[in-house]
Amino acid sequence: MNLITNASDALGEHVGTITVSTGAMQVDRLELARIQPLEDLPAGEYVFVEVADTGCGMDAETRARIFEPFFTTKFTGRGLGLAAVQGIMRGHHGAIQFTSAPNQGTTFRLLFPPLVITSETAPAVVQLELKDHGKILIVDDEATVRQISVEVLQYFGYETASAESGARAVELAAAYPPFDCVLLDLTMPGLSSEETLRALRRLDATIGVVLMTGYSEQDAAQRFGNIPLNGFLQKPFTPYELRRHIQTALTQIQAQRRLSATAF
Ligand SMILES: Nc1ncnc2c1ncn2[C@@H]1O[C@H](COP(=O)(O)OP(=O)(O)OP(=O)(O)O)[C@@H](O)[C@H]1O
Ligand SMILES: [Mg+2]
Repeated sequence: MNLITNASDALGEHVGTITVSTGAMQVDRLELARIQPLEDLPAGEYVFVEVADTGCGMDAETRARIFEPFFTTKFTGRGLGLAAVQGIMRGHHGAIQFTSAPNQGTTFRLLFPPLVITSETAPAVVQLELKDHGKILIVDDEATVRQISVEVLQYFGYETASAESGARAVELAAAYPPFDCVLLDLTMPGLSSEETLRALRRLDATIGVVLMTGYSEQDAAQRFGNIPLNGFLQKPFTPYELRRHIQTALTQIQAQRRLSATAF
């Protein structure tokens, strides 16, 4: 936010462009020496968020002082934006790269160390821990959410299927039963999440549901009235939060299935 505010300030009254992008890159020792990270960082791969503007740019004198707390060239500036960015990046063990010149615009790039998860580098103990079981149906109209959830859940050992709509989810649940749990997006075009869940529970009364939402748990729960749910996952979530919610839901469902099996 601070970078984008600064970019917007730099455009001032003029028409210009602010570009926000993400990516991954190799950073060598030379480059690390040039940008003087806040701590000793290893050369290698980094992921980045970049904010570029076509605004007024900075001269050498300004460039040298931008991270100083209370340094500002603005009438109403507090000079705290970039100091805060620097603090945040320190917390992430990352670094800040930037280029700027008067009338040439400015580009800030925030470099983060990548989180590397591979089964080869994970110790054996963790491997054992990864053997989760269950069949999960992921329903979200956003392709990235589906893709990430599938990858994460498969990594932890789950079987997965994914659907881009409620209608497709119901089709899959009917064609490839039984699913243990559905990871359901709250707001989707077409068949709503409530209607989707009702249809899924008609197919299998014991299927669990973890609701994914950007809204608060209370708002979301209200929409579902008295339909029982097995968990709420606030977007954005981490792989471990996703796993924990699915695990909790599956424990509840297994208990419920055992109960309904002994009822006969
Ligand atoms: N994108 C940019 N283009 C041109 N100059 C910039 C840019 N970003 C930062 N600066 C310069 O760096 C200075 C410090 O920025 P910083 O965000 O720390 O404080 P500020 O924007 O002045 O005040 P605030 O505390 O409200 O953020 C700015 O006053 C400005 O001179
Ligand atoms: Mg600022």
